[in-house]
Order: sequence, then structure tokens, then C-alpha cells
Amino acid sequence: MNIQETINKAANVLKKNNIVTAYLDSELLLSEVLKKDRSYVILNSKEILDKKCLYDFNNLIYRRSKGEPCAYLVNYKEFWKYKYFVNKDVLIPRPDTEVLIEETLKIYDEKKGLKVLDIGTGSGCLLISVLKERKNFSGIGIDISKKALKVANFNAKLQQLNNRVKFYNSDIDKFFIGKYDLILSNPPYIKNFDLKYLDRDIVNYEPKIALDGGSDGLSEITKVINKASSLVKKNGKFILEIGCYQKNEIVKKLKDKNFYINKIVKDYAKKDRCIISTKI
Ligand SMILES: C[S@@+](CC[C@H](N)C(=O)[O-])C[C@H]1O[C@@H](n2cnc3c(N)ncnc32)[C@H](O)[C@@H]1O
Repeated sequence: MNIQETINKAANVLKKNNIVTAYLDSELLLSEVLKKDRSYVILNSKEILDKKCLYDFNNLIYRRSKGEPCAYLVNYKEFWKYKYFVNKDVLIPRPDTEVLIEETLKIYDEKKGLKVLDIGTGSGCLLISVLKERKNFSGIGIDISKKALKVANFNAKLQQLNNRVKFYNSDIDKFFIGKYDLILSNPPYIKNFDLKYLDRDIVNYEPKIALDGGSDGLSEITKVINKASSLVKKNGKFILEIGCYQKNEIVKKLKDKNFYINKIVKDYAKKDRCIISTKI
């Protein structure tokens, strides 16, 4: 079978299994098997594939048809300008989270050497992307998951940031080290009850600990706000990702902890996604 026929067949399998990105996913998975980029797959549609390649590809398509996310199948996800290693121990970085990086870069230029804390660092995508853009910054990422921190460390090494970043395995509540100019966080914020209504790709594969915000969705965010309040320097900034219906409750919590609300930013779907505040 040639590339085009193989893609068509695979995409039909994925469509029957309700995968909306059937063609895209088939092309991406085949390019992974061929160790080429997607444009190669598109431009060489008549190339005949050998048995081993078809076997490996069909295996990936089978797993994808069961809902396993492409990012876990190929072990990477592009986020901001970089390619991050990911596996089932970390949340797959989301495009909406890039809003936090855009806002950080708007506020701070290259000149200052700032200390950054990333609470719930996961794959390290937020902290690492900011440090890549701002060569004088250094940072600490914390996470309750040891397995996630292995991934974050690996990504920091891939991006040659070992000398500017450190990761600590800690619960938010139990971390007391340092004072920071900037705190970033994308904590778990889905209501426990709502987890089962997420796409099966998410609910069956991504780590619950990265998603579960307790019965009201606010338990981890509340801990993060309390911790940020004690670890951020006076006039330091706190840039927080939130669930799109949590704005009012979170603004209140921030104000109670003496944060001045600078800005609430919407994501690419025009939903409230990020709050920028300053400690006063
Ligand atoms: C939504 S994920 C964000 C991951 C990454 N920062 C991103 O934006 O893709 C939340 C992360 O917080 C971590 N986490 C959950 N509860 C925590 C806690 N109590 N203390 C520290 N980290 C926690 C999870 O392990 C997970 O990696």
C-alpha cells in the first residue's frame, strides 16, 4: 500500500471511532513511524510502505482509535516555540496556557534578572518557555508528582537550561523556599464531579492529579493563591491560569490576599483564562 492509501484507510478507522482530527492524526502518526515530518507524508503520497512500517503504524492507529492522545503516542507536544517530551505522567501542554507566556513577556523585558516560581510545573513547559525567552531569568518548578518532575528535568536538559532551573518535589502547602519576582501557575481546576464528562482522550489517559480541583474546582487554586501570597515579593507579579467560569471567586480570593488585579486575559476561544495580579 502507498502512503495515501494507508492514510485514507487509517483515517476511516479513526473517524468510525469518533476521532474528529482523523486525517491530521493519521498523517502525524505516519510521519512519526517514517521519522520524517508531516510535509514528507503529504508530498510523497505514492511511496510504497514496507511491512514493518505498516505494522508499526497500524499499532499506533489502533491505540489512537481507543482514545490515546497523539502526544502520548509520539512522546512530544509542541508548545510555544519548543518541542516538549511528554508521557502519561504529565498533562499535555495546552495552547491556551501559552497566554501566560505571552503576558509574562509583555510585562518583562530581557534586562532584569528575575526569580520565577512555577507551581504545578508538570512537563515544565511554562517555566522552561519563559526562561528560554528571557536569558537573565532563573526559576524553580515544584510539583507533587515525582514522575512529572522526571519529565520536567528531561525537558530542561533538552533545552540546555540545567544551570538556570531547579525542580522540587513538594506539595504546594509544604513549599517554603525563597521569595520570587514572578509566580506562574496552571493548577488543577476541574470540579471533581465534572471529570467524567471530559473527552475520553483526557479522562482515560491524562493524570487525574493534574486536573482534579476538588469538589468545587477551587481547592488547589486556593492553596496556590495562599502560597503565592507568602512567596511573592512586594510588587511582584502572579500570573494564574483559571477555569473559564471561576473568575469572580478567584478575583475575590486574590483581593483578600492583597493582590491588585491588573488584567484578566481571555484564551483563543475568548474565554476568561488568566489573571495577572500584583502583590501590594
Ligand atoms: C494542570 S497541570 C499543569 C502542568 C503544566 N504546568 C502545564 O501548564 O501544562 C497541574 C500540575 O499541578 C500538579 N499538582 C497537583 N496538585 C498539586 C499539589 N498539591 N502540589 C503541587 N503540585 C500539584 C500536578 O501534578 C500537575 O503536574
